[in-house]
Amino acid sequence: MIFTVAIDGPAAAGKGTIARALAARFGFAHLDSGLLYRAVGAKGGDPVMAAKALTGRDLQRDDLRTLDAGQAASVVAAIPAVRAALVDFQRRFARAEGGAVIDGRDIGTVICPEAEVKLYVTASAPVRAHRRWLEVGGDEARVLAEVQARDARDMGRADAPLRVADGAVVLDTSVMTVDEAVAQAIAAVEAALGGA
Ligand code: C5P
Repeated sequence: MIFTVAIDGPAAAGKGTIARALAARFGFAHLDSGLLYRAVGAKGGDPVMAAKALTGRDLQRDDLRTLDAGQAASVVAAIPAVRAALVDFQRRFARAEGGAVIDGRDIGTVICPEAEVKLYVTASAPVRAHRRWLEVGGDEARVLAEVQARDARDMGRADAPLRVADGAVVLDTSVMTVDEAVAQAIAAVEAALGGA
């Protein structure tokens, strides 16, 4: 079976949590596409060369989840040639036999507009910053500023800006528990599987 769940949305909205829960529930493979951009940013040097030469080992670095790695990722992610170098891998993953969940910023808009299920997971910037701050600590105002800077870069770039894909179900997790958000995502997948 070829079945893709495309999940987009801004940083710390809960995409990863929902993606992992769906992958576990339905037995689909999961790709966190943000890791690709984080790994390119962390490699240093020419980002286009880094994207073309990316390996599985690059994705296993233990410093990819930091705030700084997120900022570096969103800078290299605005370079069209970096994005182009990562398209084929993501498309193959999305349409591989067995089903796939991919989360990112352009999965339902650019990578896999034909996805059977598209979700746009969002929450207010202060709520997202608070969640991220609970993970990383430090100064919460700085975390909010970083979230807002990344939103502006991801939504404002010319190539594959973050936006709600046509046909996407919008989940605003600002006032939802994790369980509620996951239940709504599961219902959207079940509806599409039932109609497949
Ligand atoms: O999702 P995550 O926070 O790990 O993504 C890091 C950065 O990578 C994002 O801020 C965005 O600039 C970029 N990204 C992207 N397209 C994707 C996934 C991530 O541009 N599909």
